[in-house]
Amino acid sequence: MAVPAASRTILLTGAAGGLGTLMRELLPRHGYDLRLLDVRPVENAPDAIVADLNDTAALREAVRGVDGVLHLAGISLESTFDKILESNIRGTQRLYEAVREEGAARDGAAPRVVFASSNHAIGYTPRPRVEDGAPLVPVGTLRRPDTFYGLSKSFGEDLAQYYWDAHGVETVSVRIGSCFAEPTDVRMMSVWMSPADGARLFDAALTAEGVGHTVVYGSSANTRVWWDLSSARALGYAPQDDSEVYAEKLLAEFGPLSEDNPAHRHMGGRFINDPPIWPY
Ligand SMILES: NC(=O)c1ccc[n+]([C@@H]2O[C@H](COP(=O)([O-])OP(=O)(O)OC[C@H]3O[C@@H](n4cnc5c(N)ncnc54)[C@H](O)[C@@H]3O)[C@@H](O)[C@H]2O)c1
Repeated sequence: MAVPAASRTILLTGAAGGLGTLMRELLPRHGYDLRLLDVRPVENAPDAIVADLNDTAALREAVRGVDGVLHLAGISLESTFDKILESNIRGTQRLYEAVREEGAARDGAAPRVVFASSNHAIGYTPRPRVEDGAPLVPVGTLRRPDTFYGLSKSFGEDLAQYYWDAHGVETVSVRIGSCFAEPTDVRMMSVWMSPADGARLFDAALTAEGVGHTVVYGSSANTRVWWDLSSARALGYAPQDDSEVYAEKLLAEFGPLSEDNPAHRHMGGRFINDPPIWPY
């Protein structure tokens, strides 16, 4: 069951991060009370829980009594496999264990997690030439991670499916594109999710009924969108922003996407071009 409208205390992990900071401002406007957690202190939030995702006792305490979890914590760029393993893979599994044990839902409802997945779970998927009539990429497309980071998001989606099938923990996995105040390059015009639309999508993901495990793309209603947003819209998500308002400026600065550039040929953008990080 969904997070009830009348009582909306959620645990926000990764509260000190970029997206966490944006959501700390925006989600209360949707009626949420936030319990904050991060491995770093959270600015202007002395009550925030400062704990690592691998601190199982702290996690159990953190999820006790909340109506849902918005799980943003983790390494958000490519890193060594060991670091990704600790924070994103083990850490996320420990969070799900805490949710399974403590409930993260009231009144016998199914626990609810919203998981910050990423477009980098499908980073090696070729960019669809939507302008030439190619179909939008569905959520069921084969996952093709572009980094260990992307692999951890692919794992997180499988973990969410497993915890739904085996333990009845509901999840919406949101494959976030780029959630920043403005798109800063031409690729981002296709994958941009405005912070306001991000809050709308997380709200829909927390409150929709009977989601089981649902995968959605996290983007605004961009004219140049690559992704099929129908599973997000089915949750009640109604995006209101479009990156096209930045097109003139960005195209003048960077020019159009080029097939010569691997970062432009694939979903994952510059993650395709980044040199590998050693040691693995
Ligand atoms: N911002 C985007 O556009 C975007 C796009 C795709 C996916 N995401 C995902 O959304 C989430 C938030 O992204 P962001 O841009 O705010 O990243 P960020 O790096 O700014 O914030 C992540 C936060 O997680 C915390 N954290 C990391 N490891 C932790 C651990 N082991 N225990 C507790 N806290 C830990 C960090 O201290 C940090 O405050 C991430 O999971 C990221 O992968 C974001």
